[in-house]
Amino acid sequence: MSFDLNKFQEIKTPFYWYDVDLLEQTLKCVKENADKYGYNVHYAVKANGNLGILRKMKEFDFGTDCVSGNEIKQSIAAGIDPKKIAFAGVGKSDEEITIGLENGIFCFNCESIPELENINSIAGKLGKKADVALRLNPNVHVSTHHYITTGIEENKFGINEWDFEEVIAALQNMENVNLIGLHFHVGSQILDMQDFRNLCVRVNELQEWFYAHNIIVDHINVGGGLGISYTQPNEEPIPAFAEYFKVFAETLKLRPKQQLHFELGRSLVAQCGSLITKVLYVKRGVNTKFAIVDAGMTELIRPALYQAVHKIENISSNLPSERYDVVGPICESSDCFAKGIDMAGTKRGDLLAIRSAGAYGEAMASTYNLRTLVKGYFSK
Ligand code: LLP
Repeated sequence: MSFDLNKFQEIKTPFYWYDVDLLEQTLKCVKENADKYGYNVHYAVKANGNLGILRKMKEFDFGTDCVSGNEIKQSIAAGIDPKKIAFAGVGKSDEEITIGLENGIFCFNCESIPELENINSIAGKLGKKADVALRLNPNVHVSTHHYITTGIEENKFGINEWDFEEVIAALQNMENVNLIGLHFHVGSQILDMQDFRNLCVRVNELQEWFYAHNIIVDHINVGGGLGISYTQPNEEPIPAFAEYFKVFAETLKLRPKQQLHFELGRSLVAQCGSLITKVLYVKRGVNTKFAIVDAGMTELIRPALYQAVHKIENISSNLPSERYDVVGPICESSDCFAKGIDMAGTKRGDLLAIRSAGAYGEAMASTYNLRTLVKGYFSK
């Protein structure tokens, strides 16, 4: 990750900074490792829908995984081939389904019978056929924050095993829907490869079930979820893609000609991004000093929402380190980026880099407190 301090002086803070060299190295690494096994990667646009990021995905020939009509439109605007766009989400509106159908996307990942019926009916009216995958709930527990686990029975996501019979019976009566895949996603920021191995074992079992019911699909989609190092972004700038894909190659049983698809978000873009913010004031607290900065939970909500840790550096100072709470200007106590961290001696006007903010930073920004949405800048 490189910072261009001269350039930073000219940009109004706060802003997102994307290191294009690191992004390219990361995408190259994903591509090489996925290509080794002939795997298809769809970038999960929800992680960061910035057009500049999406254009890079196109350059590296990735498809996208979208969860709204606008994400489909933004992918197409970036030049992504609609035949590489998967459309997921538990609550797709009629308008969004229409956008998907009219653009001839690769696949709708569907989560319930009423959703399938609705897609069938809209496709019928448009004189189209919808290619769909069933998102199955594999009931696999993963070790991550409970807000971002998705693949256990109590979650709203996916079709549970006890409903499979009913779903395949319902599909028989839907003329405008083609079943082409089975889809899974068990959570996000997963670092323990055993969790992915457990997913593969469940996918194998569930494939057997469908096979026993005479259903063989063209593709399996195992979602995303590969985590990154938030504590050591300099030492581990590129996630463990080789190890990750190897787990699937070793454990997942594909049928002849069956394709494997992934929807990776965070691991592709998190480390290339930083949120750059200026220190407005420093004030004394109890056993700490408050560094009050001009970015808040409106620009990066992860610490407030998931108790996430992001490394923070003072990129303007070489002074000996002191203890700080780094907090934003928003009127909420949870508007705090870090508590009791050691950081180079800090004064008003210094620039701080909040690291690993390329995923779910800009994408989750809000205008709370009537703040203005801020921009992302690219290093080249
Ligand atoms: N596929 C599906 C169906 C998903 O729900 C998600 C993420 C992904 C793929 C991409 O997962 P990734 O590779 O990025 O882990 N805002 C949270 C993360 C929410 C993830 C939601 N689903 C955060 O900031 O940690």
